Amino acid sequence: MRDALAAGSNAPGYPLTAGNPHLRAAITAWFAATCGADLPGLGVLPTIGSKELVGWLPTLLGIGPGDTVVIPEIGYPTYEVGVTLAGARAVRSDSLTALGPERVRLVWINSPSNPTGRVLPAAHLRKVVDWARERGAIVASDECYLPLGWEAEPVSVLAPEVRGDSYTGILAVHSLSKRSNLAGYRGGFLGGDPAIVSEILAVRKHAGMIVPEPVQDAMTAALGDEQHVTEQRARYADRRERLRAALTAAGFRVEHSEAGLYLWSTRDEDCWETVGWLAERGILVAPGAFYGPAGVKHVRVALTASDARVDEAVRRLS
Ligand SMILES: Cc1ncc(COP(=O)(O)O)c(C=O)c1O
Repeated sequence: MRDALAAGSNAPGYPLTAGNPHLRAAITAWFAATCGADLPGLGVLPTIGSKELVGWLPTLLGIGPGDTVVIPEIGYPTYEVGVTLAGARAVRSDSLTALGPERVRLVWINSPSNPTGRVLPAAHLRKVVDWARERGAIVASDECYLPLGWEAEPVSVLAPEVRGDSYTGILAVHSLSKRSNLAGYRGGFLGGDPAIVSEILAVRKHAGMIVPEPVQDAMTAALGDEQHVTEQRARYADRRERLRAALTAAGFRVEHSEAGLYLWSTRDEDCWETVGWLAERGILVAPGAFYGPAGVKHVRVALTASDARVDEAVRRLS
């Protein structure tokens, strides 16, 4: 990836917002191989990391005041930020049947979830897609942790059992930050309904949301290789086992967490108490309250520290 970045550094011209042909082919092939998106006509687009897309998708789709967007009950804070930037209303809900008659324009889902690590089964995803299609809403599925399943096999919204025989009304949002440890490069991408993707592309072109050419080349290299993903997965799996055992021995209960980069942990007390108890031991975790009111009794423990820091955390927990 670094070699591809360096080799692409003589890039004085403007890059293509849609992605250069090599990157577009790499994204398309990856979606087919990893997500089951093997129908022809998949719309694809690179993004400047996926946070940028999460933060601006409602605006890019023309969603605004008077519109409703459904976001996960406990979720990555940028979903709500994006809805707020667009001037629309965010409704936190994991159950669409609980919603009233209001017109929903967009539904965000996130499986595997940040912060809970919960994986939504294909049947659940299918219900969300059917519900949205009946109402003309768009489903945006943030799947940046898809390659990191531990005790469950995460399914993409683009898989045949979820999307049926078309990509109508669905977008899958991905990132190389997690899969390839490439957060510093800002490499994300999306795939889905070609009509929606081309609308998003049209706006992004004029808004200047363009992935730099050398980063496009590094992304192409990353998507063409699975070995580094397997190696990095093994490191995370090992940290996860050690941290989970240490947390459990220290009286925590770890819930969900069957995939992704976090252990969603609780001692059945207010999250700030837990954050304080861990901070006294020099261990930094995220309070569940950051992710929504339903998270107030949990903390999010990340697997992203180095092996040496994880060893030290395990020692301090014991
Ligand atoms: C659920 C989720 N979506 C999107 C992102 C954004 O990642 P990036 O902008 O690095 O692709 C993150 C990062 O933590 C995340 O947890």
